[in-house]
Amino acid sequence: LIVPVILSGGSGTRLWPMSRPELPKQFLALTADETMLQLTARRTETGERFAAPIVVANAMHADQIEGQLAETGTTAAAIILEPMGRNTAPAIALAALAVEMPGAPLLVMPSDHVINDVAAFHAAIQRALPLVEQGWLVTFGIAPDAPETGYGYIQVGEALADGVHRVARFVEKPPRDVAEAMVAAGDHAWNGGIFLFRADRFLEALGEHAPEMLDAVRRSMLDAARDGARVWPDRDAFAASPSDSIDYAVMEKADRVAVVPVAMGWSDVGSWDALHAISDRDDGGNVCRGDVVAIDTRGCLVRADGKRVALVGVEDLIVVASGDDVLILPRGRSQDVKKLLEAMKR
Ligand code: GDD
Ligand code: MG
Repeated sequence: LIVPVILSGGSGTRLWPMSRPELPKQFLALTADETMLQLTARRTETGERFAAPIVVANAMHADQIEGQLAETGTTAAAIILEPMGRNTAPAIALAALAVEMPGAPLLVMPSDHVINDVAAFHAAIQRALPLVEQGWLVTFGIAPDAPETGYGYIQVGEALADGVHRVARFVEKPPRDVAEAMVAAGDHAWNGGIFLFRADRFLEALGEHAPEMLDAVRRSMLDAARDGARVWPDRDAFAASPSDSIDYAVMEKADRVAVVPVAMGWSDVGSWDALHAISDRDDGGNVCRGDVVAIDTRGCLVRADGKRVALVGVEDLIVVASGDDVLILPRGRSQDVKKLLEAMKR
């Protein structure tokens, strides 16, 4: 059985004001009636192939996670609650150390992505499994449609098996010109941020490329507190771990890394513009949710969370009302929400 590992510790700042530190985007219903976390859990609920998931998240969201998983009927094998964020490499290490079978394949999934074609996703997993058993670290590659700088890029190398290729090169978050060159070259995929590998093989690679991290995380699990499915790694031990992503700490450096290119309607819903692009639109090209009244309005994304929002005669705007905050910006500028947050801090 494959053990799903759901990473749910990110802060999703670019979807402010709905996404906030207390309730980041993975816990919000952004693309459907269910939250991103619930949609993620549903992707691996088919019993014959997948074991109960391990969720790794920040301790402050424990109740949120348990409540949302209960709604989908998911029983987590473990909910590992980090005392603070140390990025994805330590989070995955916690899960790898928690599985009972060291050779179990782990399917590491972000909790905040959309995958429209789950059958294609499952087929890609199936193609990867034989190599995973042999100790390969597998990623899933998405055909790039723009030179995004917020993704990892994978140069697709020689075929290892049907639909599985050696990773010739892994380039995490390149500068713009490098991203443009890779998209133009045509032999690069985006890293979908989803990984499949044996738990023992991941720990071996981590030990090789980030030994201090493995050591700190191992100590934090030896002294972990437990209550039912909840696991609290030891705070001091975990705090001693360097903070790094799996991409930088392991994938860029390890050998025997493979990629499975897959077309599965993937989006990481990284911004309000991305959400507009992937959502169903009304006749005017609008995406409205909540109590919204719109007359003669075109191409807008409008979210009314606890407030009524009314618009007349506007085009191509993003309007998000949530709590005490209202965000308004033209479509195409939603990457600048990060700048706004910095300005508000000052
Ligand atoms: N438990 C835990 N702890 N989860 C975390 C932490 C942490 O400290 N930090 C991030 N996560 C979760 C996030 O909630 C998200 O679901 C996932 O791990 C990935 O983290 P991101 O911070 O969103 O990564 P990214 O988007 O910058 O980059 C990754 O994803 C891209 C695709 O969306 C990389 O893998 C890129 O190579 C990839 O292209
Ligand atoms: Mg992300």
